[in-house]
Parts: sequence; structure tokens; C-alpha cells
Amino acid sequence: MDKPKVVLGVSGGIAAYKACELLRRLTESGHDVRVVPTDSALHFVGAATWSALSGHPVSTEVWSDVHEVPHVRIGQHADLVIVAPATADMLAKAAHGLADDLLTNTLLTARCPVVFAPAMHTEMWEHPATQENVATLRRRGALVVEPAVGRLTGVDTGKGRFPEPAELFDVVRRVLARGTAAQDLAGRHVVVSAGGTREPLDPVRFLGNRSSGKQGYALARSAAARGARVTLVAANTALPDPAGVDIVPVGTAVQLREAVLKAAADADAVVMAAAVADFRPAAYATGKIKKQDGEDPAPLTLVRNPDVLAELSGDRPRPGQVVVGFAAETDDVLANGRAKLARKGCDLLVVNEVGERKTFGSERNEAVVLGADGSETPVPYGPKDDLADTVWDLVVPRLDRS
Ligand SMILES: Cc1cc2nc3c(=O)[nH]c(=O)nc-3n(C[C@H](O)[C@H](O)[C@H](O)COP(=O)(O)O)c2cc1C
Repeated sequence: MDKPKVVLGVSGGIAAYKACELLRRLTESGHDVRVVPTDSALHFVGAATWSALSGHPVSTEVWSDVHEVPHVRIGQHADLVIVAPATADMLAKAAHGLADDLLTNTLLTARCPVVFAPAMHTEMWEHPATQENVATLRRRGALVVEPAVGRLTGVDTGKGRFPEPAELFDVVRRVLARGTAAQDLAGRHVVVSAGGTREPLDPVRFLGNRSSGKQGYALARSAAARGARVTLVAANTALPDPAGVDIVPVGTAVQLREAVLKAAADADAVVMAAAVADFRPAAYATGKIKKQDGEDPAPLTLVRNPDVLAELSGDRPRPGQVVVGFAAETDDVLANGRAKLARKGCDLLVVNEVGERKTFGSERNEAVVLGADGSETPVPYGPKDDLADTVWDLVVPRLDRS
């Protein structure tokens, strides 16, 4: 089989050096990558690096190898174009259809999925001109990955940071797998909760659970690659930040409830994949609880935590919002799942059996997705990504149905 053909456009931002790692990951995983830098990009990383790493000649303008008409052929033959980093200038040119170098010509001739990974200072990103250009590109079907929040060039911090190359590679992989039909969540805001809450007993101890957050992160990654604006409410996870996803870290069930309800106010869908503690200690000891010689420990009194899934399902923050819950069961899996779906009032419930190689901490899962309409969608044992894709496949037709 032919290798998938990827064009890696690189524009003149400081993050150009990180695109070398993206290139490396692409070539090592069997992609044929043609790098098309801008003249400005070559101030940051030289043509020799791009050429040696990709195994192809590198040019920034349309006047080299004219007999091969590269200004047309490179775009026409691509299976995917990703511009990473995409400067404010490049977004403006692409939005307005300028074609004054090889990369901008390539963007006009490409008929495959196009991904932009903008990286710039916060002021440039937030400028109305940039935001309008991004909106234009998204409206035309391009995937513009939201920049991350964090350290920028120099001492500045804010939104505009280039995502981790490994995470951007994950976006490329997903978009290539789904092709031009990929953007079925474009223009949607989705909220995903992930991880497990921790209910503190004292400054060093907590009641927690074994959720790693991997399933929630897979849902967030899948939604972002399908064009959604994603808010990921992450409870005590230790996973890399997915590209294009806004992350809200939380600790306890009460904090998670607050963050989810806030984000859900304008969300089209909420997927509650986090394991939220049903109970928390009635009292929090401000100092470490000490062992008393010869005495039994004081009994632990618990109080109920808010039921975020039931609250969201019963009183949707936005009309037509789709609410998805998760249930990890140990026995009578389907019967308990159906009962939970009815009790909570959500639209879909992903029911999985807690088992040796699935659910908590595992890379794989097996589930049945129950619908309030009586549907049952079994998802065979496989990567958590597959389950994530199936959940969104079931959410998409339910959006704005009511
Ligand atoms: C040190 C330095 C760092 C820069 N970093 C960025 C950046 O991260 N994002 C951006 O949009 N522009 C950045 N610029 C400005 C662009 O290089 C400039 O707008 C240039 O015209 C972009 O050209 P291009 O879009 O053709 O690559 C930077 C400039 C300098 C000198």
C-alpha cells in the first residue's frame, strides 16, 4: 500500500523547532512527508534539517523545479496538509486565499483535510483579525487546533502555545483515518469529565478511586479531531494535555460539579466519564490525623456528594443538550445499567464491566452504550479510542434533536 502523503507546512514561529519532532513521528510511522516551509520559517529551522528529516527536497517558493509544477502538484496529491506552527500571518493569508509562496499555493490546491496548529503570543491570537480568520477557515472545513495555555516565547505565559508534538501527531492520525468527513462536531462545544475525584480526610489523605482518566481523554481527543471546541474537566489525572482541548483541573466532586456546570452552560453535549465519588468524609481535619496508642481509630462518617449526572440530565443547562453518563458495574451489568439510565435521565449510558484488562487504568475497554430510546450498541474489546469514537457517533445524530 502507498504511504499516506502528508504535507507539513511550517510558518515562521518560534515553535518551528517542535515541528521537527512532529515530522519525525510522521515519517517513523510510515507517512510520506513533504515539508513546505515559508521563508520566515527558515530563520528558525534551516532547509537542510527539513530535507534530511523528510527525505524530500525543500523549497519555499514556486520558481524551483517549475517543470513539475510544484505549486499545484504538492497540494493535489496530498492526503492531508497540516500547517504547524501556523503564524497569525499564515492564518490571514489562508483565510483570504493569498498565494505568494509555495505553502499558500499548496493550501489553495489541496482538496484533502487541512489542519492548522496556530502558535503565537496571546495578544496576536486574541486579536479580532486573527479570530475572524480562524472562524473563516473553520467555516470552510479546516480543523484549526486551539492553541494550548502555557509558556510562550521569552518569559510570557498565556494562550497561544504550540501543543505537544505527540498530541498533534495524534490529531493527524485521527483526521487521516476519518478523511474529509471528519468534522462532524465542527461548531459544537462539548464538555468531557475525566479522572477520579479525591475527597480529602486531612492534608495528606483522601478517599479516591482507580480511574486514570484515559477514557475521558480519549473522548476529548476524538471530539477535538472532529472539530469540536472541547472543555476537559480533569480530576487528578497524570496524562499529557490533548492538543486543542481546554483543560480545567479539579480535585473533589464538589469542584468537579462546579466546573462541569459552568462549562455546560453553552455546551451542545456533556460526557461524564469521570469517576465521581458518591460520598465524602463528613469532616476535614486541618491537621494530620494521628494514631493514638492503644485506641481504635474513630469511625469515618461520610456524607453524600452531589449527583452531577442526575442534576445535568434533569435540568439541562442548555435546551437540546445531549448528556452521556458512564457506569462501571461488577454484576448484572446490563440490568444495572438500564436501571441507572432510567434513574439518572441521561440520553446515553456507557456501561462497562470492571475487569482485569479493562476499565480502570487500562488502554482498552469493552462496553455497551445504552440509549434512552431503547437502543443498545455493543462496543467490542478494543482501544479506548474506539469506544470514544462510537460515543460521538451516537451523540452526533442526537444533537439538537429535541
Ligand atoms: C523571534 C520571533 C518569533 C516569532 N514567533 C512568532 C509566533 O510564534 N507566531 C507568529 O504568528 N508570529 C511569530 N513571529 C512573527 C512572524 O515571523 C512574522 O509575522 C512573519 O512575517 C511570518 O511569516 P510567515 O507566515 O510567512 O511564516 C515571530 C517573529 C520573530 C522575529
